[in-house]
Amino acid sequence: MQTNERLLSAIENYLAQAEFPAEPELLYAPIGYSLSGGGKRIRPMLVLLCCNLFSEEVQHALPAAAAVEMFHNFTLLHDDIMDNAAVRRGKPSVYAKWGRNVAILSGDAMLICAYRLLSESPAQLLPRILRTFDDMALEVCEGQQYDMDFEQKQKVSVVEYMHMIELKTSALLAGSAVIGALLGGASEEDCRKLRRFAVELGLAFQLQDDLLDSYGDQRLGKAIGGDILEGKKTYLMITAMSRAEESARDVLRNAYRDPMLTDAEKIAAVKAIYDRYDVPRLAEQQISLRFERALGILDTLSVEHSRTQPLREFALSLMGRSK
Ligand code: IPE
Ligand code: IPE
Ligand code: MG
Ligand code: MG
Ligand code: MG
Repeated sequence: MQTNERLLSAIENYLAQAEFPAEPELLYAPIGYSLSGGGKRIRPMLVLLCCNLFSEEVQHALPAAAAVEMFHNFTLLHDDIMDNAAVRRGKPSVYAKWGRNVAILSGDAMLICAYRLLSESPAQLLPRILRTFDDMALEVCEGQQYDMDFEQKQKVSVVEYMHMIELKTSALLAGSAVIGALLGGASEEDCRKLRRFAVELGLAFQLQDDLLDSYGDQRLGKAIGGDILEGKKTYLMITAMSRAEESARDVLRNAYRDPMLTDAEKIAAVKAIYDRYDVPRLAEQQISLRFERALGILDTLSVEHSRTQPLREFALSLMGRSK
């Protein structure tokens, strides 16, 4: 089996080789900017790790690994438009740097490039890989639409929120895991289990992303408090709404659009309520629950336990729980 360091450098090298035309510059420059911008490579790592669970041949999984990373970066270009986000990975987002139209069209080109990469997968597996990818991609769109719908909706339940993040975030992790498993020759049952693993991991990951959006620091590489300013119905907001008394609920509902408050004041007002009602701790609990569930599923795979170790370590490092 390969070490995680080697898998990561394999994907980095593969992505670095990709060449894009010089012209039109405003179409292609944002693609290089996004792909080399310091992403953690979670999704391509899942492809390679899940392939390597069942097979020593990971080389032929590299195009699909690059495809899911390309697709992910495409979603970020469009997501930053939808979320009004000026900072990504500690730098101006494509949308802030080049404007909305460039982010739309470069994003579209990246989606097409993702399919081009995917089509380089072994021919006999391609129909199943493509179907998995198509289903995943549509789910991400559905999740993104719910995410925006919920901004306008007063009452969103935890169940609705979990369904939304399962679509917008877990789907891509699950698709990556299944595509990797297929490339490794996994059984139907192991594919199903790895899908469940990645869904739970994705839920933990998005819950943590929501927590860090309010409580992280500049290492996150995004503007802190962005979810609060956009009126996002995150787990934090939904939990606070269900626990707070009416006067505090009123602040939660309206602070983000109060013209009398600065952005910093809006964020501080909402976080004070989160703190008062113990919301960060409840979010941590939910993250741990989902994460433990994910790890538990790995125990049930048909491979020897020791083969799951790299994937376990990867999941731990992803949640900031390694060593
Ligand atoms: C950001 O994903 C989008 C979410 C699902 C929260 P990542 O945190 O994996 O983004 P990069 O690629 O590492 O920057
Ligand atoms: C990410 O949700 C989901 C997708 C990009 C599809 P967020 O909007 O929370 O991601 P960040 O925080 O901007 O990375
Ligand atoms: Mg978003
Ligand atoms: Mg966003
Ligand atoms: Mg976020």
